[in-house]
Amino acid sequence: MTHVTKAVFPVAGLGTRFLPATKSVPKEMLPLIDRPLIHYAVEEARAAGIEEFIFITSAGKAALENYFVDMPELEETLARAGKTSALHALQSTQIAGGTVRFVRQENPRGLGHAVSLARDLIGDEPFAVILPDDVIRADTPALDQMIRAFGQFPAHMVATETVPAEKLSSYGVADIAQTFGRIQNLRGLVEKPRAGEAPSRSGIVGRYILQPSIFDHLCGLAPGSGGEIQLTDAIAADLANAGVNGFAFEGQRFDCGSVRGFLEATMAFAQDRPELSDVFAGDSSSCIRAA
Ligand code: G1P
Repeated sequence: MTHVTKAVFPVAGLGTRFLPATKSVPKEMLPLIDRPLIHYAVEEARAAGIEEFIFITSAGKAALENYFVDMPELEETLARAGKTSALHALQSTQIAGGTVRFVRQENPRGLGHAVSLARDLIGDEPFAVILPDDVIRADTPALDQMIRAFGQFPAHMVATETVPAEKLSSYGVADIAQTFGRIQNLRGLVEKPRAGEAPSRSGIVGRYILQPSIFDHLCGLAPGSGGEIQLTDAIAADLANAGVNGFAFEGQRFDCGSVRGFLEATMAFAQDRPELSDVFAGDSSSCIRAA
């Protein structure tokens, strides 16, 4: 079975790199231009045909949960006032025909633990995992690229990109046996390898398509890197059974979990908006310059 209709969004993280902003605002709700990070993740999933959206949340994420609630009264007010573009912006948060579910992760025990909590909602079918911190700017949404490839190569699939050698110890890293175009057949994966011990420069980016057999490994897995239950370790443990492919997606990825990455994403996405593309060129007419 290669039809992928469900996606898991782990959004329980504390966002400490964005304190004090994240003291009262979930990091997934920080706006990239004028949409919160979670909006980009959901939009990408929708464009890839996802119909069921499963959020693994934690305490303090009410603003994120509210983001997907319909607001018919506000819609009516905007419609009556003829505020069409505001109305469309509001409607873009609706998951038409889709299903939204929230599962609470009570303790921060790691990405693998967060994904394991979706087991009952996923059942016995392949599913996607999207980490909203990783925002990908691409002509064809990255998850859509992966789902198409997964149709031909239905093993576990992890998105990969080439990462500078000195940064590899912040990533899961692929051990590549063979490459066929964008597909990398993996013989292993290592979560956050020590400096100089990474098996390649292909770092794992926050997009996964996983076979349900992953849950057999997630439940009961020993803590790994950082004392947390790691998704990478569970995928590695299921490699002999289900196989694992890396997918070197087409597109530009931004680590919006870091202030620098967020800023770079803001500049790049502004280029895609005709009304904003001049802002970072330094000739914005709305800038007030000192005489
Ligand atoms: C997680 C994964 C890691 C992956 C990274 C991509 O790490 O565990 O394998 O490379 O996301 O963003 P985190 O950044 O949550 O520490």
